[in-house]
Parts: sequence; structure tokens; C-alpha cells
Amino acid sequence: MDPNHEVPKYSLTRIRKDVYEQVYERLKGFYAPALKKIWNEKTDPDKFIHEDLGITSYLMTLWNYDIIERKNRPSFVDIGCGNGLLSYLLACEGFEGFGFDVRERKIWKAFDPQPRLIVSSFDPKDDQILENCTENSWFIGNHPDELTPWIPVLARKFRCSFFIIPCCAYDFVGKYKREACKEKESATTTSVYSSYIQYIKQVALDCGFKVTIDRLRIPSTKRTCIIGVLEESKLNDKNVDLYCENIIRNHSASNEEHLNFQPRCAVEPVRNCTKIGQTVVVNIVKILFDFLISDISESNNVVIEHFSDAKVKTNEVIWNAGKQDVKLSDAIKIIPPELRQQMKAQHGGFQTLVRNHGHIFRVIDGYVRLRQPHWTDIDSVQNTQRIRTKKCYLNDHHPDKCPLPSHVCRFRH
Ligand SMILES: C[S@@+](CC[C@H](N)C(=O)[O-])C[C@H]1O[C@@H](n2cnc3c(N)ncnc32)[C@H](O)[C@@H]1O
Ligand SMILES: [Zn+2]
Repeated sequence: MDPNHEVPKYSLTRIRKDVYEQVYERLKGFYAPALKKIWNEKTDPDKFIHEDLGITSYLMTLWNYDIIERKNRPSFVDIGCGNGLLSYLLACEGFEGFGFDVRERKIWKAFDPQPRLIVSSFDPKDDQILENCTENSWFIGNHPDELTPWIPVLARKFRCSFFIIPCCAYDFVGKYKREACKEKESATTTSVYSSYIQYIKQVALDCGFKVTIDRLRIPSTKRTCIIGVLEESKLNDKNVDLYCENIIRNHSASNEEHLNFQPRCAVEPVRNCTKIGQTVVVNIVKILFDFLISDISESNNVVIEHFSDAKVKTNEVIWNAGKQDVKLSDAIKIIPPELRQQMKAQHGGFQTLVRNHGHIFRVIDGYVRLRQPHWTDIDSVQNTQRIRTKKCYLNDHHPDKCPLPSHVCRFRH
């Protein structure tokens, strides 16, 4: 096997380490402090800044930026550029190019000077955005997810080079399955990640690239990079579209006649209902709460007993515990359809939402009720005295207020 095809044990084995280190130190000193100041994303600035400084330094070293004439420098397209930082650094260092992503990021507007960053939902069937690329262009994919296997194919079509740092494993139509790896040995004996690296490598080899695999020196755990440079002798361009189609078909687990790539949508899907837009959640909680206490018949009343420190009963409070016979499947029907839709569209289940509000509701055997506070809570209160930050929903919203005095309730009055 070509030694360049192996994942090296150590980092930076295919480039000049001394040049890399010099470039990295210079870039870090020059860009990192200012970038930290403008960072307005929720992500960790240290991780992302050092990662992209490392990748930029690697590319610049790989491209012999120090000996190549400026006008001959490679250009780049950062595919699925995310926060756009890599495009920013490359542009600042004098490389022409742009990044695109289906979703614009807040930080894009904060870069100065502004790099070329484009909002585009890329579908390989329509690759117009790449049409001005030349043999001097590099397609870059840093964790490009579902676009990963497409990058070598597109680079072949446009006769460019590529640089990919694979992360999440996708084939041409969906999640990558190990069986799709042609190198049977690595399909069964190694991790999915290693097998995926072999898979992408094989796609690139079939596309006619000279392939090199290296390990980057970056904070990310996924730091293997695959580099592809076209070998002129292998270019057989009579019908490049057909040629690429065959490669895609050969490397797809699906046997379907028409492989259908579905670009992801611009709104980041949120799978956990704790992340559903807060107003939607607040509204749903209030509607359910009001529904449960809307029945003031005496049969719903319960007695909440109060005790002294010596555990002697001191008082009894009558409290409306609300409806007791509401099935979750019926409760959802009282939520207006548009709210339900907003909840669903963001992948939040009603049951999850209700369960996530255990300080207000209880779900037992498919029925939903109000949480009924008990004096016995006192033991846990003493332990949690210092962390009573959550407000007592019952005290704020129940017509009878919370039936417990504030020093006993687990929540803040
Ligand atoms: C894991 S993120 C990596 C982002 C960035 N390269 C980085 O390393 O910080 C994958 C990115 O690819 C983008 N993406 C995925 N599919 C896309 C498509 N079909 N068209 C455009 N962007 C896409 C996503 O929006 C996301 O920003
Ligand atoms: Zn309370």
C-alpha cells in the first residue's frame, strides 16, 4: 500500500513541520486576540480559533506559500464553512476564495475585513456556485457532514484539488454504513471513523486523485485530513458527468435507480423539546396548567398538612389539586393546533415537554396531574437550601398559591 494512504501515528507528517510552526506562531499572535474579542457565537472561541489557525497554517505550508509567487497562489472554496473563520483567515493571508453555508452565522458580519461568505443550500445536482473554479482551486471541507463524499467527486468534475477533515460519516445519500467500505478488512475490523476515512480515500482514488492522509495538530478529536491532488495521467474526461455518476453509484449503499441527495434545511433542527422556542413552551405549559385547575369542584380538593420542626402537625390547608383524570393523549387536544405545530416542527414531543416540567406536573400511567407538594419535601429542602433558584410555579400561578410555606417549598417563593 502507498505509505501516503495510511493514517500516520503522529501529526504533521506530510508537510514541513518547521515551516508550519513558524506560520502557526505568527498567525496565533496576529489574529487570536482580536478574534476572541469579536467572538459573538455561543461556541467556544478558544477551540474554534485554534482549530482554524491550525488548519490555515497547515494549508499555507502545504501550498508552499513562502516560495510560490502571490499571483500563482491557490484559491479556495470552503464548503459548509459554518462560522466562516477559515475563509476569513485564508483571505487575510492573501488567498482568493469564498465560503458557503446553508445557514448564515452571526459572526460573519463581525469579521473585518469581510471575507466572501455566501448563504447557499448546496445540492450537487446544481453546482453553479463552483463554476468559476480552476485547476488552481482547492475545495476545502472541515467537518462537511453530508457533503463529505461529494467533495472529491466535485473536485474531479471541476479539476480542482481538495482537502477534507471528515467528521460525521455520510455516504452520498445518507448515514454511512460500514458495509459500503470497499476495503473489506477495514469495514469490519476498525472503528466506524477509520472505516469512513478508508471509504472517502477510496472514493478519491477512484476519482483519479493522488491521495495523502495526514493528522493535523488541532484541538478537535477528529483531526485526520485527506488531501487529493489530480493526476493528469488519470484524467479521462470524455464524459465527466457519467464518470462521476458511476463513482457515486459504486460507493452508495442504496440500490435505488435515482440517488436523491436532500440538502439540509436552513433552520438548525432542534431535537430536544427543552430547546423549543421559549414562548411556545411557556404558552403550552400555561394552557395545560389553567386547564387542570379550571375544575374547582370540591372533589379535587386535597388536604396538605403542615408540621413543626418536631414533626408535630400544626396546620391543614385545603388545596385544589386540579383534575385527576386527564389522559396525556386528551390533554394535547386542548393545545391550539398552531402551537402544537410549532412544537412538533421543532421535534419536541408533548410528553417530553410535560415531563420536563416536573416542578409543575406529574405524568403517571399516561395521565397528567399537577404536582402535589408535601411537607416531607423538607428533608430535601435542607439539602438544597442554597440552590433554590427556580421559582415556585404553583405559588405564582395557582389561585390557592403554593400550599407550603416558603421555607419548606423546594422552589423559590
Ligand atoms: C459540522 S458543520 C462544520 C462547519 C465548519 N466547516 C466548521 O468546521 O466549523 C457542517 C456545516 O455544513 C453545512 N452544510 C451541510 N449541508 C449543507 C448543504 N447542503 N449546503 C450548504 N451547507 C451545508 C452546515 O450548515 C454546517 O454549517
Ligand atoms: Zn412553593
